[in-house]
Amino acid sequence: MPHSDDSKLTAAVVASFQETNDLRLKFLMEELVGALHGFVRRTNLSFEEWGSAIDFLTRTGQKSTVTRQEFILLSDVLGVSMLVDAVNHRERSGATETTVLGPFYVGEHKPLPHGADISETVEGERMFVQCRVTDLAGKPLKGVAVDVWHADDDGFYDSQKPDYASDGPSLRARFTTDAEGRLFFRTILPCSYPIPIDGPVGELILATRRHPMRPAHVHFLLNAKGYEPLVTHVFIDGDKYLDSDVVFGVKQELVSRIELRSDAVMPDGLPAAGPWHLMTYDFRLKPGKGVAPKPMLPVSVDA
Ligand code: BEZ
Ligand code: FE
Repeated sequence: MPHSDDSKLTAAVVASFQETNDLRLKFLMEELVGALHGFVRRTNLSFEEWGSAIDFLTRTGQKSTVTRQEFILLSDVLGVSMLVDAVNHRERSGATETTVLGPFYVGEHKPLPHGADISETVEGERMFVQCRVTDLAGKPLKGVAVDVWHADDDGFYDSQKPDYASDGPSLRARFTTDAEGRLFFRTILPCSYPIPIDGPVGELILATRRHPMRPAHVHFLLNAKGYEPLVTHVFIDGDKYLDSDVVFGVKQELVSRIELRSDAVMPDGLPAAGPWHLMTYDFRLKPGKGVAPKPMLPVSVDA
């Protein structure tokens, strides 16, 4: 039947899902149509604007490849990724806060022994990272696999570099907690960096006069049997983008004060070659199960 009254149009589209067997799908489609129609009504969307939106989404799809997910990036800069994270982690009960996985996780990392230097030949200010992993009551958790990764001094992840396949991983590794729930490693101090802006998401960032920066951070992904996987970052206190992260991923509890030290030895007793930074962070895991997040494949800026 034709719908001269546009409120009847919304009801008709909602009713068209009536026969859906999957009740969750039915509910999601009804809500999506309600929200989309409400948007068009409230904004009096013009044909031109509708066309631009279709063009933008088409190009977002075209920019996406097996190694680059422009739609997730769009979700990130619109705060949708953090909102999905929030509604799925409402009750933390004292567990460490979560944040976005990001596109630079490439799957299970190479295991390295405690104290290893994950920066190898990468230049930058030296940093020693020491962490402890416990349950909610503070009991140390032994044998927890902890993947870590972060950007270099120029703001790039290894997986963004053209020679990643031949050069292998850098500034990423897996550590396994000892009997006291500890892990520690050497690296360089990461810096703030821009998200990839050579696609439609970048155009949106520029058109809305936002900056594309993420504050400096180290990514952590913790996987322990009997506990929810923890996807999080530790942010470097004092970073100028902490209050305006382009993907809205900062939570106060995840900001850590990094100490500048001049001691001749690092916490594991090995000598320091000069001044160094100390990052200390303790993670608390929540009992449960859950599926470890799926990695993105290495991202190439031009992909
Ligand atoms: C990251 O922290 O690696 C990241 C997260 C979301 C979008 C882009 C980068
Ligand atoms: Fe990152």
